[in-house]
Amino acid sequence: MSHDIKEISNKEDSISLKELNLMLRKKQKSIPTKFLYDDLGSKLFEDISNTEEYYLTRTEKKILNNYSSSILNVSGAKELLELGSGSSKKTKVLILEALKEKDNLTYISFDISTKALKMSYNELKNISSKLDIKLVQGDFINDIEKLQSTKEPRLYLFLGSTLGNFDNETAIKFLTNISQKMKKTDFLLLGIDKIKNKDVIKAAYNDKNGITEKFNKNILNVINKEYNLNFQPDKFNHLALYNEDKSQIEMYLKANSKQKIDILSEKIEINSGDKILTEISRKFSDTSINEIFEKSGLLSVKNFSDEKSYYSLYLLRSNQK
Ligand code: SAH
Ligand code: TRP
Repeated sequence: MSHDIKEISNKEDSISLKELNLMLRKKQKSIPTKFLYDDLGSKLFEDISNTEEYYLTRTEKKILNNYSSSILNVSGAKELLELGSGSSKKTKVLILEALKEKDNLTYISFDISTKALKMSYNELKNISSKLDIKLVQGDFINDIEKLQSTKEPRLYLFLGSTLGNFDNETAIKFLTNISQKMKKTDFLLLGIDKIKNKDVIKAAYNDKNGITEKFNKNILNVINKEYNLNFQPDKFNHLALYNEDKSQIEMYLKANSKQKIDILSEKIEINSGDKILTEISRKFSDTSINEIFEKSGLLSVKNFSDEKSYYSLYLLRSNQK
């Protein structure tokens, strides 16, 4: 059985070839992160979350196993709206707990990737007739305002440490957008990866089976298709470094030979050793994340963690209501 996907993304919001050209010509070359997630990218991300090294998914799932019922008691949600849901595997824990108490529940899965939305639907379609599943395809940076509100108490979910993939300014803009959208009865559950031993962090982005490497290189296939370019993924190596000063993983594609890319009837010259930034993943302390909440109009009501304090789920409400 298939399910309708509502599309709210605006094609004009997508970056132009001109903008991509500029990003690739800057001193620090970069490619927007969202291009990591085509069909294959979404599948590879799912595989990353099952690797031994990637502690984030299983730790977050454990916290949800332990605290779903407290989270639901505090939030009183009748509706769950998840941004960047991926496969919704972890969210299923929360959904099953909510269904124990409620006669009906709405779950809205919002993602840029239709593959992710389909995985999410398949994960949840058979669990209960009391569950109403809605799938929305859109960009969580540009399209949040377009999401419909209802009168029901809603719990927004932003899991998987995805906030860590934004720079400070974008994180604050994103959270401010949500806090302004939140009603008095709404809450936000936010998954945050904490600062810890750097070898543990580094390993999570350098799994020994090379899945993260495949995931990183796939971004070139995605932009080749999207913009008709001629990047050769084999001419790049995967590089994920931990920048201790900034408490962030920086993921690059590092050229292993000199090459030319045809773009807008010009050529971009790439030298051996040049690095293209594809993703950052920030790690926070309780203090550094609370600073962001304050600047975004959010108030932390409660937080939940694992025994090693590797990861935290923050339950927040808007302080503007
Ligand atoms: N929440 C899941 C998936 C995290 S991976 C988990 O915790 O495992 C990040 C997810 O965000 C992916 O499913 C990806 O497709 C989605 N995503 C990335 N950029 C996006 C954007 N700009 N707008 C909406 N979704 C996006
Ligand atoms: N939000 C995830 C994180 O920061 C995204 C992610 C996991 C990721 N593994 C990755 C992004 C590898 C790029 C490369 O952990």
